[in-house]
Amino acid sequence: MPKVYNWQIGSEMDYPFEGRRPQRQAAAVFDTNKCIACQTCTMACKTTWTSGKGQEYIFWNNVETKPWGSYPLAWDVRVLELLGPQAWDANVYRGKTLFEAAPSGERALGYLPEDLDYAYPNRGEDETNLPLTQDRFYLRLPHDAWFFYLPRICNHCTYPACLASCPRTAIYKRPEDGIVLLDQQRCRGYRECVKNCPFKKVFYNHTTRVSEKCVLCFPAVERGIQPRCMRNCIGKIRTFGFVSTPDRARADNPVDFLVHVRKVALPLLPQLGLEANVYYIPPVHVGNVRFLQMLFGPGVEHAVATYRKAMEGGDEELLGVLLLAVSTDRIVHRFRVHRGHAYGYDERGKEVVRVPLREPTMVRPAYDPQHRVYRYNVT
Ligand code: SF4
Ligand code: SF4
Ligand code: F3S
Repeated sequence: MPKVYNWQIGSEMDYPFEGRRPQRQAAAVFDTNKCIACQTCTMACKTTWTSGKGQEYIFWNNVETKPWGSYPLAWDVRVLELLGPQAWDANVYRGKTLFEAAPSGERALGYLPEDLDYAYPNRGEDETNLPLTQDRFYLRLPHDAWFFYLPRICNHCTYPACLASCPRTAIYKRPEDGIVLLDQQRCRGYRECVKNCPFKKVFYNHTTRVSEKCVLCFPAVERGIQPRCMRNCIGKIRTFGFVSTPDRARADNPVDFLVHVRKVALPLLPQLGLEANVYYIPPVHVGNVRFLQMLFGPGVEHAVATYRKAMEGGDEELLGVLLLAVSTDRIVHRFRVHRGHAYGYDERGKEVVRVPLREPTMVRPAYDPQHRVYRYNVT
């Protein structure tokens, strides 16, 4: 197999095709600290793309509660168990990736979920890691009892296992933006892609008998508009844009800033070797760092400390870029924080959004003599 460089694991690895990066790579950052699992993203996508016959169980976007939630059932546990021990040496991964661990004659290591694995999309929702008892401290950070929400879409991976494994070459990665698409005219329903996408983000449609996956709302992206799941996000947790490789990172690109400059946003399961392009800001309240490192790699402690510092007022630039998330429908290509405001600019450099770092607060007297009333809410 050819060798390709995967910066998320700090080394070269085997991949069935030559490494050819797109001109630019669409990417997103999800802040798990702000997700409220309202599932608005899930429904925005479902009503746009997957409300037809045969699509009943298909969720291109889903939100699961960690540690117990998963859709399909135990996708992460099963993939990690299949892969075996995963060792990091500082920021370099020393174990095998899914491509290197592929059984003889196959392109990647994977498993095909059974139909019943898709029966409960919200399994484990709001369940804590431990049973709750009276004698624990809950108002201490980090918590010993915790859960957090993990919103998931296709990662439009740099080295997609779905693409690598399709015998019909029905899956392709667009050179202009790195979006991974499945050509349903070419697909014959072999489901190698379903088997080998470790994130289980390709779905087989039993009515049409071909597979389908997230299209990253490419018609919107082509017009400079964010995908639907992003722009409908109630918690404003999502920053959408384009990510560079570390050597080409630009400090004024919001995604690059979060991923490469502050290193506060981390890839999901980097040890699998796909160079996934949805990045996560890990939850700051979770006491089990090893669990977070298993999910997001070795940068977790740095990311949590950096995020905390910003929330405590020690990093206005980081605060500013996080406040720009979902503050406009437009894709923000550049940002700047200046005199108490964060500014976002489109591809041509036009300002498309401006938000204050602190909302102005007005305190009104409790008694209003003009109307002779007492106010309940004075701010
Ligand atoms: Fe393919 Fe899965 Fe990666 Fe999406 S997340 S590009 S479906 S391997
Ligand atoms: Fe659905 Fe578009 Fe979000 Fe993909 S990017 S999950 S297609 S709404
Ligand atoms: Fe290929 Fe997957 Fe279709 S393997 S043929 S794209 S079901």
